[in-house]
Amino acid sequence: MSDIKDVVREKYGKAALRVIEGEGASCCGPSCCSAPGAVDSITVNLYDQKQTEGLPAEAVLASLGCGNPTALARLEPGQVVLDLGSGGGIDVLLSAKRVGPTGKAYGLDMTDEMLNLARENQRKAGVENVEFLKGEIEHIPLPDASVDVIISNCVINLSADKDTVLAEAFRVLRPGGRFAVSDVVVRGEIPAEIRRSVELWVGCLSGALDESDYVAKLTRAGFQEVSIEPTRVYKVEDAREFLSGHGFDLDTIAPLVDGRFFSGFIRGRKPA
Ligand SMILES: C[S@@+](CC[C@H](N)C(=O)[O-])C[C@H]1O[C@@H](n2cnc3c(N)ncnc32)[C@H](O)[C@@H]1O
Repeated sequence: MSDIKDVVREKYGKAALRVIEGEGASCCGPSCCSAPGAVDSITVNLYDQKQTEGLPAEAVLASLGCGNPTALARLEPGQVVLDLGSGGGIDVLLSAKRVGPTGKAYGLDMTDEMLNLARENQRKAGVENVEFLKGEIEHIPLPDASVDVIISNCVINLSADKDTVLAEAFRVLRPGGRFAVSDVVVRGEIPAEIRRSVELWVGCLSGALDESDYVAKLTRAGFQEVSIEPTRVYKVEDAREFLSGHGFDLDTIAPLVDGRFFSGFIRGRKPA
């Protein structure tokens, strides 16, 4: 498991440095070094211009998510929000605007370069109700029942210990608190080799969950009102170059892939 974490840390450390050096994270999306081109169909156009107005350009450039959790999560003034795997900080800064000066937005990330970038973006944005914490989403460095809403953007699929992540999310939420997360999800049976190749393309190093497993894991962790809403569905065409490079005949595998991998918005609530 620590091997996966080391690979993830190295990959996102490089992505952060690229943004700091003015190149943009774009060669290194969730799919990064293994799959040039994937980044476009996954990370492109997640935020509309109105939403990102006033944010530092580097925060927008560093966006490596697969959804837009703050657009879908209902955030209210005074709330405490926690972003699991906050990267360059875009969703934390957007949350901070929504919860206002009486609320607080925490970002949690394990990669030093990403934390440096996020803190620099916070400084440029001039916001005070934000704090970036160093740590792992499997061991959240916050007390029990201290958070109103957990958001995350394309990070839980990278973890090799999703049950622990969900248990930790449940622990830090207040009773009635909400889980409102974007993540890559799989629907239905897919032959193992194809699944592994598409996951490499998407960048899910330790495996995207099947939607019914995701629901079952959230329910086992204690969440209620669990649901998964697809926000962007991937087609075999999106991964054409990568999959044909791996020896797959696209016409043959299209029916096995199309519509089976999607970015979804995942909701749950800790019982009040
Ligand atoms: C795909 S990027 C997403 C960043 C951000 N959420 C966004 O939308 O731009 C994944 C981020 O999660 C962090 N990360 C991955 N696994 C983690 C873990 N187990 N604990 C803490 N951070 C993690 C990485 O360092 C990286 O910054």
